[in-house]
Amino acid sequence: MAEKKLPFSKDEIHRIIEEYKTPFHIYDEQAIRDNVRALLNAFAWAPEFKEYFAVKATPNPSIMEVLREEGVGADCSSLAELLLAERAGLQGEEIILTSNDTPAIEFKKAREMGAVINLDDISHIDYLERHAGIPEVLCFRYNPGPLREGGNAIIGNPEESKYGLTRKQLLSALAIVKEKGVKRFGLHTMVASNELDHNFFIETAHMMFDLVLEVNRSLGIRIEFVNFGGGIGIPYRPEQEAVDLERLGQGIKQAYEEKIVANGLHPLKLAMECGRMVTGPYGYLVSTVLHKKEIYKNYVGLDACMANLMRPGLYGAYHHISVVGKEDWPKGYIYDVTGSLCENNDKFAINRKLPMIDIGDVVVIHDAGAHGHAMGFNYNGKLRSAELLLRPDRSVKLIRRAETIEDYFATLEF
Ligand SMILES: Cc1ncc(COP(=O)(O)O)c(C=O)c1O
Repeated sequence: MAEKKLPFSKDEIHRIIEEYKTPFHIYDEQAIRDNVRALLNAFAWAPEFKEYFAVKATPNPSIMEVLREEGVGADCSSLAELLLAERAGLQGEEIILTSNDTPAIEFKKAREMGAVINLDDISHIDYLERHAGIPEVLCFRYNPGPLREGGNAIIGNPEESKYGLTRKQLLSALAIVKEKGVKRFGLHTMVASNELDHNFFIETAHMMFDLVLEVNRSLGIRIEFVNFGGGIGIPYRPEQEAVDLERLGQGIKQAYEEKIVANGLHPLKLAMECGRMVTGPYGYLVSTVLHKKEIYKNYVGLDACMANLMRPGLYGAYHHISVVGKEDWPKGYIYDVTGSLCENNDKFAINRKLPMIDIGDVVVIHDAGAHGHAMGFNYNGKLRSAELLLRPDRSVKLIRRAETIEDYFATLEF
C-alpha cells in the first residue's frame, strides 16, 4: 500500500500560502534525494550505473541541480532541455539527447556540449553528419516491434510506436557508423511507461543483453553502455505498491551475470532515464476551494485547473486528493473536483469520496511532481503557476515564479 501523506503540517502549508498564492506546485527535496539514492543503490553493483533524469518530467534547473548533487545526469529531448541541463551545471556525457524527429539545431547543440546523442532512426546518421558531424560516441534507440510481446499499457505495443530502429536497421546502422569513425557505442530502448511490475524491466534487460551479444557476434562491435530508458511507474492509487527497486536491480544483475559476464563482455555500463519515479510522488499541487456547486452532481471548484495538471483530464488518470486538516475525517461525501476551464474534462476527480469540503479549504493533489507543471498550457488565458521547493531545513524556495498577465501578453502584437 502506498501511503498518501503530506510532507507539511496544516500550519506549515498555511504559512506558505500566506507568502505564495495558490495554486502552486511544491516539491519535497529530501524525499527526492532519498528516493534517487535508493535507485542508485539498487544498481550499485553495476559498472558506472548512471541515471539521466528525464528533464521533460520536471524541467526546472533547481530540481536538476539537486539531482546533479546526487550524481544524476539529464536526458534531454529538445534544445530548451539541453540548455536547462547546461544551466543546471551538467556537462559532456552527463547529458544524453534522446529525441525523435530531431531538428539540426538540437544535434548541433548536443555536439557542442559533448552530450551523448541517441539516434532515433537510421536516416538520422546522414542528417547528423551533414549538420553536426559524426561524434566519437553514438547511441541508437532500439524498437523491438513484434519481438517484444505484450506491450505496456501506456506506451502500447512497440510495433505501433514511432520510436527507434528495427533490429535489422540497428545492426546496419552500427556497421555504418563504425565505418564513419565512431569508436564507442551505446544501445537504448524504452518499452514501458508507468510500469509497476519490476519483472517487465528485467525482461527488457534480458532482451537488451541478447542484443549486445548479437552485435558483438555479428559485427565484432563491443557495446560500451546500455540505457533501459525510463518508465518505472509510481503508485498513484493508495492500494498500489511502488516498484521494489532492490528486486529490480537484483533481477537485472542476474541477467547481467548470465548474459554479459558469462560471455566475457563485462564491464558493460548500464543507464536509465527515469523521470516520473524520480520526482512524481514528491510533488504536490496545492490549491484553494473557490466554489461549491450542487446541480445533478456535487462539484467543488478549485483555483487550479487542468493547465496545472492535465493527467486526469487527458488520460482519466487517478491522483489522490487530501483536504488539509481533514485527512482523518470520514469520507462521507461524493464530489467531482473541477478546475475552471471551459472544458468538461477539466476535472481532477470524478465521483470521489472525500470529507465534507468547504469554500476556502486547501486541497492538495498528490503525485503531481512529474508531468504536472511540465505539461501546463495557457488555454483559456490561464497563467502557469509557481513552483516551490521545500528544503530539508523546512525553508521554502521559490524555484519558478508564477506567470503574470504581462508574461501572457509579451508575445502578442497589438
Ligand atoms: C525517451 C524518454 N526517456 C525517458 C522518459 C521518462 O519516462 P518516465 O517519466 O516514465 O520515467 C520518457 C518519457 O516520456 C522518454 O520519452
